Amino acid sequence: MDLEQLNQRIAEIETQLSAALPKATSVDALRSLESGILGKKGSLGSLLGNIRDYPANQRGQVGQLANQAKGRIKERIEKRLGELRSADVAAERRTAESYDPTLPGVGRAMGSVHPVTAVQWEVERLFERLGFTVEAGPEMESEHNNFEALNIPASHPARDMQDTFFLENGMVLRTHTSPVQHRSMIKFGAPLRVIAPGRCFRYETLDASHENTFHQIEGLMIDENISLANLIALAQMLLCEVMQRDVKLRVRPGYFPFVEPGIEIDMNCEICGGSGCPTCKNSGWVEILPAGMVHPRVLKAGNIDTNKYTGFAFGLGLTRLAMMKFAIRDIRVLNSGDLRPIVSPMRLGGPIIAGEGMR
Ligand code: PHE
Repeated sequence: MDLEQLNQRIAEIETQLSAALPKATSVDALRSLESGILGKKGSLGSLLGNIRDYPANQRGQVGQLANQAKGRIKERIEKRLGELRSADVAAERRTAESYDPTLPGVGRAMGSVHPVTAVQWEVERLFERLGFTVEAGPEMESEHNNFEALNIPASHPARDMQDTFFLENGMVLRTHTSPVQHRSMIKFGAPLRVIAPGRCFRYETLDASHENTFHQIEGLMIDENISLANLIALAQMLLCEVMQRDVKLRVRPGYFPFVEPGIEIDMNCEICGGSGCPTCKNSGWVEILPAGMVHPRVLKAGNIDTNKYTGFAFGLGLTRLAMMKFAIRDIRVLNSGDLRPIVSPMRLGGPIIAGEGMR
């Protein structure tokens, strides 16, 4: 290759570069374009490698031509590199500008309230509308409040109905929410409208409908001229509202030392619709609301004037009501810590914190 041919070859390489440069749209593509020209085996690099093939007196000139070309090519590649980099920055800036910090974040599924809590809140709202206050009593109770004040003396066989956990300090884990009846009478006097939701404990053999730990809502209304009719009307309204259907009630006599007369209010079973299933022990009915007129001895123990006042009380089986409402067949899952298989958050009124996929 003489000098003229060399010049021509260099011009060719530079023309090719002009065509290739705009097509190199990434740093990597540009780097490989560069090595295809300037690398040892590149189109220009190999020309420089052949410099020894030229007569000694031409070598200087060949070297100069090639090196100048190399300089020009390098410069053009660097320039293109600069363009690519600033395009990257601009693209990054565009994404940054299209980011809207006021958009809501991606929600996480956080679960929802427990079925028992969901029903408890519902019942509380309902009674608040009727002028009832919501009271709480301790889970660790004195024997006096749990039994004696409720007309269950130590020798009374009714104590066997409600065996419980006796603590070393002489207290008991309350077997029902009824001690709050006594506490409220002492605290507020009459007239009185309270409900008292809470956890109760009994020495029980566990099965699908018995737990050693369960929830009740006590209700107590004391005033002039209160009768069982008021109680039954209230029960009807309460159960229809919670179940969102026309609930059938059955009222039969029931024995509790702290009421006279005592009744059991049953509702038709939600699981089988009344035809009979294991949950309702094949009766079609579920005991949901033991109740009655407050026994005069209980009123007296609470310093209520029995000549002026009467009252009714009930012990709503909150756990059982939650089971009915959400069609939960086995009470044991409620304390199990994982309710996902049996009840979806949507049935509980939706997750407290809405999450993706739960909306
Ligand atoms: N405390 C009773 C129980 O747990 C229920 C009840 C409450 C009955 C109030 C009558 C009146 O079994």
